[in-house]
Amino acid sequence: MTLTATVRTMRAADVQSVVAIERAAFTTPWSAQTFGALLGRPRAEMLVLEVPEAGVVGYAIVWCVLDEGELANIAIREDHRGRGLGALLLDQVIAAARARGVRTIVLEVRQSNLRARSMYASRGFGEVGRRRDYYDDPREDALVLRSEI
Ligand SMILES: CC(C)(COP(=O)(O)OP(=O)(O)OC[C@H]1O[C@@H](n2cnc3c(N)ncnc32)[C@H](O)[C@@H]1OP(=O)(O)O)[C@@H](O)C(=O)NCCC(=O)NCCS
Repeated sequence: MTLTATVRTMRAADVQSVVAIERAAFTTPWSAQTFGALLGRPRAEMLVLEVPEAGVVGYAIVWCVLDEGELANIAIREDHRGRGLGALLLDQVIAAARARGVRTIVLEVRQSNLRARSMYASRGFGEVGRRRDYYDDPREDALVLRSEI
């Protein structure tokens, strides 16, 4: 399954598919305008994951500043989760950030998001902090994770 997946840079034409995934994945989703505005930013590494039968089914964004990156967003379309695509995309966006000189990646994740936490743990991310009541809808703490890449 993952053999047929390809990862490439996000383009303006992908934003509609990306926003549909974003809306289904998050209770406070980013808008099409937000994704569109980020496309022009040199510090934003933005990738999509495509599969032949369905087109764009995932995306990831790392904000890169010198040797530090922040994984700002990652999601896989619900009907394609649990097949290794999230981990594949995470590996690729980390590699792209590394190629820009990033050596440390940080991210926030909902405490209850066990699937994402498991994916990050499998890629070497460790807990370095907690932001209390960071998320709304529902209100919840964020765990801060970090990895040296
Ligand atoms: C988090 C997300 C991107 C993971 O993508 P995915 O394609 O489902 O993940 P994968 O199939 O690559 O699995 C990655 C790891 O998650 C774990 N995992 C997979 N399915 C799981 C499940 N049902 N329950 C718990 N852990 C699971 C496994 O540990 C797996 O590691 P492995 O490759 O060593 O087996 C995806 O679930 C998603 O889009 N979620 C909604 C958006 C989101 O929460 N984004 C993260 C915000 S911080």
